[in-house]
Amino acid sequence: MKSEKLYEGKAKILYPTESQEILLTYFKDDATAFNAQKKGQIKGKGEINCTISAALFEMLGQLGIPTHYIDRPAPNQMRVKAVKILPIEVVVRNIAAGSLCRQTGLPEGKELPQPLVEFYFKKDELQDPLLTDDRLFLLELATPNQLEEIKNMAKAINKHLQEFFQDCNIILVDFKLEFGIDHTGKIILADEISPDTCRLWDAMEGDATAKILDKDRFRRDLGNVESAYQEVQQRILSQMAKNKEQS
Ligand code: TMP
Repeated sequence: MKSEKLYEGKAKILYPTESQEILLTYFKDDATAFNAQKKGQIKGKGEINCTISAALFEMLGQLGIPTHYIDRPAPNQMRVKAVKILPIEVVVRNIAAGSLCRQTGLPEGKELPQPLVEFYFKKDELQDPLLTDDRLFLLELATPNQLEEIKNMAKAINKHLQEFFQDCNIILVDFKLEFGIDHTGKIILADEISPDTCRLWDAMEGDATAKILDKDRFRRDLGNVESAYQEVQQRILSQMAKNKEQS
């Protein structure tokens, strides 16, 4: 990489480009969990997450969701529109899992009557606490109009992704999104959508643990992490090829 990095996160590095409006994202194989208390590597993850995110952003763009995605100049590199990232993790849940079960006692796997949209404060030192709307306004993380727009976009993205993953024989349990504000003030989808940021369960019959195809395999030391990521990539790309053939 030629230029100095602008920012290095846990899974990605951001580089400037010749244009102030464009950034280059480099996807790393590094994996962390529990606010980086657990660290490791998932071989090939950078390329897989970049490929999957690019494919999903492209699809969502075609469905009318504005995203930061421009193109993918190399397998683990994505060119994106420069945005100011809102320090909010937007989590959408269709099925109870993870922290929702830990914090509410709902049993894992329970289908929710309607998608749940939640906001977490993106601040490692505070362990990304759950926000209420009023706390979010108190901290001036977004205006009421922006929050409404983010909620609506998150629900629309969920509908599109759920439908697509169903065609891939994958259950979209929950996922995390990040949004940014572009130079015109518009809110657009940013960051990544990948097995690092989604819970994805194989829809095939079988053992509950064997069905996990996402970063929970790393978080919970379940083994076969690389092969799960590869499986998700393969199903997504072959379904996209099928969809293209039909259009
Ligand atoms: P949670 O159940 O641990 O709150 O996670 C909900 C979803 O958000 C799950 O799909 C994993 C994703 N996620 C991230 O992408 N980054 C994070 O830092 C956390 C905690 C969760």
